[in-house]
Amino acid sequence: MQNTKRRAVRTSAPFSPAPLSRVSLHALGTSMLSLLLVLPAVAATKVDVPVSALITPAPCTVSLTGMTSGSTLDLGSLSSDSLSSAGAVLGTKSFNVSLTQCGGDIGSTVPTITVTGNSVGAGVTGGDFLFRDAGSSTAQNVGFIFRFNDTTVAWADSDPKKKNLKPGSVINLTPNTEGAVLPGTWKTTPIPVAVAVSTGGGASGLVAGDLQAGVTFTFDYQ
Ligand SMILES: *[C@@H]1O[C@H](CO)[C@@H](O)[C@H](O)[C@H]1NC(C)=O
Ligand SMILES: *[C@@H]1O[C@H](CO)[C@@H](O)[C@H](O)[C@H]1NC(C)=O
Repeated sequence: MQNTKRRAVRTSAPFSPAPLSRVSLHALGTSMLSLLLVLPAVAATKVDVPVSALITPAPCTVSLTGMTSGSTLDLGSLSSDSLSSAGAVLGTKSFNVSLTQCGGDIGSTVPTITVTGNSVGAGVTGGDFLFRDAGSSTAQNVGFIFRFNDTTVAWADSDPKKKNLKPGSVINLTPNTEGAVLPGTWKTTPIPVAVAVSTGGGASGLVAGDLQAGVTFTFDYQ
């Protein structure tokens, strides 16, 4: 049995002539305690009382800071001129995820964070790391990149996608295949998440316009 909290990051960015970008987050949490108690109607010298209880760990309180307004992060106006090369990164901003009161008084709950959203996809080199909602975006061949526990995000380094998030990334205390990991200080220190716009591995075919993406961070507690 798990408890879940969700944070959806919604990002948008129109490009030149007049670009603009946004990220928004929603939260929802559930916790469940189920208890089964059966009392026999007739008692003799012996009473069987089967009791079953499943107590799930208390989820953390998740809060976001550094958003532009509410659950939206505005990356501002961006010019497509600055996105003319492969691996270009533009408009970097960061927000913080704070996890507090995990596990209540016990404090033993550790979250596993699953990242979901839409990506540009295989048409662009490394396009699975570029978040973009096709239905609400007119900009083409460009997307948002995210890096957990960092205030900066790059596309190209020794490993082009190292530590960047993609749909399906799972973050816990052990680094995932992309290198994203929950920092050991997660209980006491806000975790920064960097966001930027990038052309990814290929810069051809960039089309200016609105760019929007929704990213959901699902917190599971086990
Ligand atoms: C995130 O938290 C740190 C403190 O841990 C603070 O210095 C920084 O300004 C915060 N960033 C944002 C975007 O709120
Ligand atoms: C998280 O980021 C901080 C600040 O850059 C760094 O010192 C720490 O090593 C990082 N933690 C992990 C587990 O990557």
